[in-house]
Amino acid sequence: MGLLAGSPLLAQQLDDVNGPINVHEFEEAAKRRLHKFAFDFIAGGTEDEHTLRANREAFSRVALTPRFMTDVSDVSTEVELLGMKLKTPIIIAPTGGQNLVIPSADEIVAKAALATGTPICSAVGVQKLLADGEPLQWWSNTIGHRTKDQAQTFARRTADIGGKGIVVTIDNSYQSNRDRNNRNRFDYGYMNLGVPKEGEVRKPVNPARPAMWQPHTPSMTWQYVEWLKSGAKIPVLIKGVLHPEDGAAAVKYGADAVVVSNHGGRQLDGAMASLDALPDVANAVGGKIPVLMDGGIRRGGDVVKALALGAKAVLVGRAPLWGLGAFGQPGVERVLQLLTDETKLAIALSGKRRPAEIDRTIVKRMNAWR
Ligand SMILES: Cc1cc2nc3c(=O)[nH]c(=O)nc-3n(C[C@H](O)[C@H](O)[C@H](O)COP(=O)(O)O)c2cc1C
Repeated sequence: MGLLAGSPLLAQQLDDVNGPINVHEFEEAAKRRLHKFAFDFIAGGTEDEHTLRANREAFSRVALTPRFMTDVSDVSTEVELLGMKLKTPIIIAPTGGQNLVIPSADEIVAKAALATGTPICSAVGVQKLLADGEPLQWWSNTIGHRTKDQAQTFARRTADIGGKGIVVTIDNSYQSNRDRNNRNRFDYGYMNLGVPKEGEVRKPVNPARPAMWQPHTPSMTWQYVEWLKSGAKIPVLIKGVLHPEDGAAAVKYGADAVVVSNHGGRQLDGAMASLDALPDVANAVGGKIPVLMDGGIRRGGDVVKALALGAKAVLVGRAPLWGLGAFGQPGVERVLQLLTDETKLAIALSGKRRPAEIDRTIVKRMNAWR
């Protein structure tokens, strides 16, 4: 997952936002800066982290088969999605608890989203910018509500303050079992404390090992989509789809988009890689609503593979947080710019000019040499 072998960051590159040259190096820089609690909280997955690794490995099994002798002198990464114009098919994923990385991280990431024109999925951090009247493209995120009334109020509130949609995370019925957090006696009480000083020892706020079996919204069903839609007429995106039948169900129950995701390997360990799940979900959805994906995106070429397998856009979770942990707002902006530049180049080198031109004809699955 980490830094590529043979490209160690030099000390001076850790002091300069232009030092790291790719997302992997931003991860390395963040690792050197952050407290282990915070780094492990972001980097980690559930239990044996099979799914976390699978998300990255899946990209190695998909190969691009570019076409040449096409005119690629004019390349654009722009896409339209659910009434929004995106400069690039990359969206900042919801990452709750990011204030562990640095205080007010959610606001800082929202500022970086605004500065780079990147849509963001987070309601808390954007509130301050909204008060200033900034034209931010954002979706709110929820893991559900217990009553119809609460759901409708949430939908109305999102719409009233300018949210362009609601992302419902469906894979979070219970708190998952994350070994790294358990080992570190991780505690959300560390939120907003910032990076500890050299030698500072932080006592857990709650030293008990987090109990397993902590319910979030275990009784949520597809009816929840109808609850939200009856609250406000804004798009509802279903995040956490891996099974094609859940993709089809999302369409049936009136969702406006699905996000193929396994929560970055942070919920059910052993769940399939997002990229592997994407083609079948896209088939089941059948073009009726847009399909997005996240999980393991670290390069522009990863974005192109996801688009080729049926995604209209991707979300990035850890990548901007590595920029944040390493350099604050400039780091987030740099990571987003790198991903955009790499995506543009990968589109061009695939022989395409627009995201919409990218399709299955330029990918092959590489697990079956015969
Ligand atoms: C620190 C952290 C916190 C997260 N919190 C949430 C969350 O509150 N809601 C949610 O739907 N997904 C959450 N996720 C999952 C991301 O939205 C996204 O699905 C995942 O990070 C994508 O994989 P990637 O990190 O490899 O890009 C979180 C991920 C991280 C790394």
